[in-house]
Amino acid sequence: MSRNALFPSRLFVVLLACLSLTACEQVDPNSPLGKRKTIFKQMLKTSEQLGGMLRGRVKFDEPAFVAGAASLNELVKTPWQHFPQVKDEGKSSAKDEVWQNQLRFNELARQLEASTAALVVATTAKPLAAQTLGQPFAKVEGACKACHQEFRDY
Ligand code: HEC
Repeated sequence: MSRNALFPSRLFVVLLACLSLTACEQVDPNSPLGKRKTIFKQMLKTSEQLGGMLRGRVKFDEPAFVAGAASLNELVKTPWQHFPQVKDEGKSSAKDEVWQNQLRFNELARQLEASTAALVVATTAKPLAAQTLGQPFAKVEGACKACHQEFRDY
């Protein structure tokens, strides 16, 4: 058999090895890593729903916006407890800086919490208009981005 004829089967073996590696690296949903990832995804989903209403992608629905802002304000308090004192193993996209500079990380977490609290306050205005929510919502998105730039590896 020529070398060339062997090549496809070798490639296949390599492919199989890669596939099983990915399977091994699946995140346990009950681990701290799994828990914080689930919360972050939920935060993204909720903030995208709010952003969609403000940007006209979906119709502005006042009760849905008020409820969404309130649940985002609760959600943002919850991922931090799932960052262990020492960096955990696994497919985390958190930079080592999260553990090296916890003071700064916590500061940015508190900034996000303050921004969602301010958004909730803004939703108490009567009548509620999408225009008045744009600025407080932009601060929430800015708080997500600020921390990701410093502490998340994409
Ligand atoms: C104080 C820092 C901080 C703030 C603020 C923050 N994040 Fe993150 N985010 C992280 C870190 C760190 C990770 C990586 C977590 C990991 O993989 O261990 C992450 C990961 C994520 C992920 C990926 C989850 C996955 O499946 O791997 C999403 C989505 C996300 N964040 C959304 C948001 C949204 C939306 C906001 C704002 C409403 C936000 N984050 C605010 C630090 C932050």
